[in-house]
Amino acid sequence: MSTIRSVIKGVGGYLPARVVTNADLEALVDTSDQWITARTGIRKRHIVADGELTSSMGAAAAKAALADAGLEPDDIDLIILATSTPDQTFPASAVTIQAELGITHGAAFDVQAVCSGFVFALSTADNYLKSGQFNRALVIGAEAFSRILDWEDRSTCVLFGDGAGAVVVEAQKLNGVDTERGILATCLRSDGRYRDKLYVDGGPSSTGTVGHLRMDGPEVFRHAVTKISQVITETLGKAGYEAADIDWFVPHQANKRILDGAARKLGLAPERVVITVDKHANTSAASIPLALTEAYTDGRIKSGDLVLLEAMGGGFTWGALLIRW
Ligand code: UT7
Repeated sequence: MSTIRSVIKGVGGYLPARVVTNADLEALVDTSDQWITARTGIRKRHIVADGELTSSMGAAAAKAALADAGLEPDDIDLIILATSTPDQTFPASAVTIQAELGITHGAAFDVQAVCSGFVFALSTADNYLKSGQFNRALVIGAEAFSRILDWEDRSTCVLFGDGAGAVVVEAQKLNGVDTERGILATCLRSDGRYRDKLYVDGGPSSTGTVGHLRMDGPEVFRHAVTKISQVITETLGKAGYEAADIDWFVPHQANKRILDGAARKLGLAPERVVITVDKHANTSAASIPLALTEAYTDGRIKSGDLVLLEAMGGGFTWGALLIRW
């Protein structure tokens, strides 16, 4: 039966030039390289320069993804940016990226689901493409989390980094068989009862300030592996697959202990898990497209592979996405 599927055409990433190591942070707060490495797997992170914006990082990643796809900006008619650190409260930073790419047709908007943002944005794009409303989308995750960190709070400031990643997705008319490329299944969840476990203590309608990130780390950790495993099982089930079929598991990169726990629960071999948290730390909505870019560029992810994306973050929000690459 003929069907429309969203096929990944290109990927690209951008990381700010400045690298901050765990040792650099020892000079800032009462922490140690040993604690950060043992508890999180993080060794370093990239941090934006003065004047560098979420939109400029997002545009750089978008240009790299377009080049990888062999497409021009004009070929794109939908831009969805996943971010919790937009340049301004409004307009959406997606329209700034749209303008920087010189695109004046189609639509551009932001999606805000914190660390799950990229999974929510890609799933949203998938539905627009499958419905026939748009033909080719740029889905971008871009974050400048260093701007909302409390640099005196050692329990959070050591965990995050800045960066951007993007994918180009194209609607293709296919026969609807599993071996054909494209997004096979998605699953999104949220539960606002947990909104005070990971949040920013400011905002336009409350304090009138930007605020700082606050997190009850152990409580987020406690929920993470269970929620991630549930949504993965549901997504695989929708497409008729099992964990053993997965070629590459590309999770949101928050903490290596969470990734190892989820992989163990699924029975996935460690070498099937793409890990970048050691180099990038937690870049929120940017972490999955950055990890995809790395694993695709170094030749691990190949056409035809079954790739599983997964994320969990503030809200709580969580979700998974299964792709035939
Ligand atoms: O991307 C969104 C989703 N976010 C996550 O998935 C994050 C989930 N949570 C986590 O990854 C972990 O909970 C953390 C990495 C945030 C914390 O690790 P933990 O093993 O849960 O440590 P903890 O918060 O229970 O703290 C243990 C100890 C405490 O000291 P006491 O009370 O035992 O004396 C903390 O004060 O470690 C202390 N501590 C630190 N020590 C050195 C907390 N932060 C630091 C630090 N350096 N940076």
